[in-house]
Amino acid sequence: MSKTNELFISKVDSKLTEIHTSQWSSPSNIALVKYWGKLDNQIPANPSISFTLNECKTITQLTITPATELIFEVWSEGARKLSFEPKIKLFLERIIPYCPYLSHCQLKIETTNTFPHSSGIASSASGLSALSLCIMSLEKSLTPQINDQFFFQKASFLARLGSGSAARSVYPSIASWGESAHINESSNLYATSFGEAHEVFHNYQDSILLIDEGEKTVSSSIGHNLMHKHPFAAARFEQANNNLGDLMNVLKDGDVAKFIQIVESEALTLHAMMMSSNPYFILMKANTLKAIEEIWAYRKANNSNICFTLDAGANVHILYPFDEKIAIQQFIESTLKPFCQNGKVIHDHVGLGPVKLS
Ligand code: PMV
Repeated sequence: MSKTNELFISKVDSKLTEIHTSQWSSPSNIALVKYWGKLDNQIPANPSISFTLNECKTITQLTITPATELIFEVWSEGARKLSFEPKIKLFLERIIPYCPYLSHCQLKIETTNTFPHSSGIASSASGLSALSLCIMSLEKSLTPQINDQFFFQKASFLARLGSGSAARSVYPSIASWGESAHINESSNLYATSFGEAHEVFHNYQDSILLIDEGEKTVSSSIGHNLMHKHPFAAARFEQANNNLGDLMNVLKDGDVAKFIQIVESEALTLHAMMMSSNPYFILMKANTLKAIEEIWAYRKANNSNICFTLDAGANVHILYPFDEKIAIQQFIESTLKPFCQNGKVIHDHVGLGPVKLS
């Protein structure tokens, strides 16, 4: 049976008496079946599943000092980052009922991303999972009997309250989030690890074309909310559930052709939802479509297993098996790089998940 909210309320009654420091590195992730639409309290309207990345990550150091009330500061690259603080304030307000020991703490949150801030890559998944893991390190120091399973489950639970997709970043390789008949122990409250996939998906590559480095014109929160009165919402949520079931089988049996079909359909459906919401919007750019056409042409001409997926933005994530790495990276260099703003591409791959640094 999956857990309920109450199980994540810390019973720690002791106050922090000395300074506590923890540091985690946590990666971003790329969804294969997309979460788009949510209910109250960050409950997803449909289950999702993602590859955990390796190179795109946030490193967060959290220094906690005893205080009379909860106060915090966010620092990035050695400078106070006031613009990050409203999002963190909301996150802390949401998690305090589950981490009451934080109410007498001063937090100094210092973060660095390995990818450029303006790259269009969402830092919320890596950033909020890294911060949640740091908070769990404090909770573990106050409650040493916490086991690893609960540690990561609660880290995922907390991360979700900041940004839904962040829930999936605490697990290595492949993680799913959201209740589904296809997944044992699945939950809307936290993500679960997929476990061992077919060997073709080990070290699967994700090269990210940075098509547009600007701020998104419509945030994910607004996009999720537009699913409330969306004319195609019910059909979309059912489709995502079915795609998740099919993808679970594909990830086990290694059917890459079916993987491509599900993943590309999910990406285009996500953007179709944006284009058919009220008000409608488009996050793809002309170069997003040009890159997709080139990827399809390359796949056909070379009998390749290359495919693409999209986030809520213009960037194109190119997914391919490790054994095509050399050929596909040459193709990206020669044909796709010109579509990227400032010629920027990030070569990433499926990774091993967060790492505790101190
Ligand atoms: O976690 P959020 O609220 O930023 O939403 C993420 C939505 C997508 O990235 C488009 C899909 C997903 O499942 O990650």
